Amino acid sequence: MDKLLITGGTALNGEIRISGAKNAALPILASTLLADGPVTVCNVPHLHDITTTMELLGNMGVHLVVDEKLNIEVNGPTIRDFVAPYELVKTMRASILVLGPLLARYGRAEVSLPGGCAIGSRPVNLHIEGLQAMGADIRVENGFIKARASRLKGARIRHEVVTVTGTENLMMAAALADGTTVIENAAREPEVVDLADCINALGGKVYGAGTETLTIEGVESLSGGRYCVLPDRIETGTYLVAAAITGGRVKLKDTNPVLLGVVLDKLIECGAKVETGPDWVSLDMQGRRPKAVDIYTAPFPDFPTDMQAQFVALNCIAEGRAEITETVFENRFMHVQELQRMGANIELHGRVATTTGVERLTAAPVMATDLRASASLVLAGLVAEGETVVDRIYHIDRGYEGIEEKLGQLGASIRRIPASHTDSASILSDVLP
Ligand code: EPU
Repeated sequence: MDKLLITGGTALNGEIRISGAKNAALPILASTLLADGPVTVCNVPHLHDITTTMELLGNMGVHLVVDEKLNIEVNGPTIRDFVAPYELVKTMRASILVLGPLLARYGRAEVSLPGGCAIGSRPVNLHIEGLQAMGADIRVENGFIKARASRLKGARIRHEVVTVTGTENLMMAAALADGTTVIENAAREPEVVDLADCINALGGKVYGAGTETLTIEGVESLSGGRYCVLPDRIETGTYLVAAAITGGRVKLKDTNPVLLGVVLDKLIECGAKVETGPDWVSLDMQGRRPKAVDIYTAPFPDFPTDMQAQFVALNCIAEGRAEITETVFENRFMHVQELQRMGANIELHGRVATTTGVERLTAAPVMATDLRASASLVLAGLVAEGETVVDRIYHIDRGYEGIEEKLGQLGASIRRIPASHTDSASILSDVLP
């Protein structure tokens, strides 16, 4: 498995561009199954999860054409199989996003149940119950969700907890249903709005995206078309924290600062100078040590759980004591133990991590357990004394396009050690003094 080798101590400085949002590209690629003609999706990030989605669609018989700019043309109607197999779903839970579109457009779907996950139990009961309310016949058998429907019917659905992919799955199903569907307590994440905009660009009628109540008037069919994915707010936030943690200065282009909201507020609270334009954001820490900030994660527009781990890393070297409370997932603190191995002072009690900032972290070999936890270890490596080796970075490749190139452009000392090197010899004896 590839590893990242990071030599800490350089204040980041420079400009990079932000990629399209993973968590918008995934549902948008799934939504192309709804269309009668080819859909071209642009600004798709180059990530493992995108490759997995293409493999998922390709296995079903969907015809995909990728051009040199990574625009993906998807021709759904060539589909001949309606199965999302365990081998793919276990590597990417977002595979569940094909359930709603397959059922709505083709009346059948078999999607493997995703099972447990490193950050929590992550059930999909709300996806299933919503589709059942729309008239689908759903059984769970042999580890698969087996769903059938003639034409789905509009329904009024209320989610007891806010679910991002649950809202997206039902929005896609409702887009072709007979009648009007109302989803109450819907997710308001920008990626949900992006999916609604995509469906509407193909001729759908989704109203209220970005509010708690979504109204979807089902249409007979959706056409082909072209849609560009919005910028990745979590990638943007991660590079802003990278600048803040190293006392550096960066400008991030091709992004949308409006999507960052409370994340920018927290960076300002920690002492950073933040400036924004229509499609860029810059952060200047002016060489100062950040101040620790309290964080409480919750669904959008509150502080995103996908930025929690990065702020734990920031607080580890910040001035003062702070509390980070994770309310979205029950087990999203796997990075804490690894950060402690780098000298961080963190007390973990249930859903609350209390950090007391230390003057310096020290490098250690560390292990990534999920995507954002991995990002926090890379951030810690950027300020740790010595050479940090981050193992299992396939998690990072799922969600950060060319992380070592982008950090390298900002002046970080970071390089990828390919699997062939790391498997044949001990990485430590190979690269450490
Ligand atoms: N939940 C249920 N029942 C359901 C669905 C969800 O109880 O049927 C619970 C979950 O267990 C969790 C909460 O609802 O406690 C929120 O989960 P949600 O369904 O919103 O998460 P998700 O849709 O599976 C997406 C992102 C995650 C992000 C979360 C929260 C995608 C592909 N994934 O997951 O992204 O953390 O929303 O914002 O959009 C990441 O990018 O690193 C990542 C994990």
